[in-house]
Amino acid sequence: MARVVGGVGTSHVPAVGAAIDHDEATDPYWAPYFDKIGPARDWMADADPDVCIVVYNDHASAFSLQLIPTFALGVAAELPPADEGYGPRGVPAADGHPELAWHLAESLILDEFDLTIVNEMPIDHGCTVPLSVMYGRPEAWPCRVIPLCVNVIQYPAPTGHRCHQLGKALRRALDAWPGDERVVVFGTGGMSHQLQGERAGLVNLAFDTAFMDRLVTDPESQAAVRHTEYIREAGSEGIELVMWLVMRGAMAPEVHEVYRMNHVPTSNTSNGLIILEER
Ligand code: DHB
Ligand code: FE
Repeated sequence: MARVVGGVGTSHVPAVGAAIDHDEATDPYWAPYFDKIGPARDWMADADPDVCIVVYNDHASAFSLQLIPTFALGVAAELPPADEGYGPRGVPAADGHPELAWHLAESLILDEFDLTIVNEMPIDHGCTVPLSVMYGRPEAWPCRVIPLCVNVIQYPAPTGHRCHQLGKALRRALDAWPGDERVVVFGTGGMSHQLQGERAGLVNLAFDTAFMDRLVTDPESQAAVRHTEYIREAGSEGIELVMWLVMRGAMAPEVHEVYRMNHVPTSNTSNGLIILEER
């Protein structure tokens, strides 16, 4: 049985990755944000997972509008950083965990979550930035990585409820794994943000705070929230938050909130992070 040692919900803001890559953490613009993620990095160093399962959305990097899997699981042995237009980020390729990933694929599909199996897959900022947020700039990522992509960029995205149920199925799969790996599950994206159009720059901290509160104490009610409410209250890209519900579903019904932070600005969006542990 793999052991879920924690769940992390975090934004995956590309500018944060660039700030880390360019050693700008002490710049006046960035210092307040990096001060706030210090405790998260300390927690991660203590948690020291063998495997991170990173739930994120590919932003038309590995996939494109030619192929839009609703849920896709990366089973590759190596996951290189994607070229998102400026060349790949200068971060290490991640080592995958093919054996566990194939077990998850089998368990999830036989549990009636028909996800797409991806043998070759570059990972974009949705996956690499959360790793950088939690680990900084290591020579090699200290954990193996299993990417789990959710389509939230092309309508129709899966519902929050479906994502929460997927997380529960992921947990059943981890419970059935014969190994004893320590696992951290990441749900990434959000928080409130809209990157284009008239409402670009929208930040709704009241929504973000209520989302985090309900994620911890009442995920079932958060899972019932419909897309229109995310988009109205949290902007067009606020829908990325449904991916945090996959992480939450993979955790026990009762969790302990270890850490939370929210910081604006890190771009023109709301950047949040939460760490959950089981009691
Ligand atoms: C930003 C956030 C995202 O989730 C993303 O995919 C791209 C950009 C941002 O905050 O700038
Ligand atoms: Fe995003």
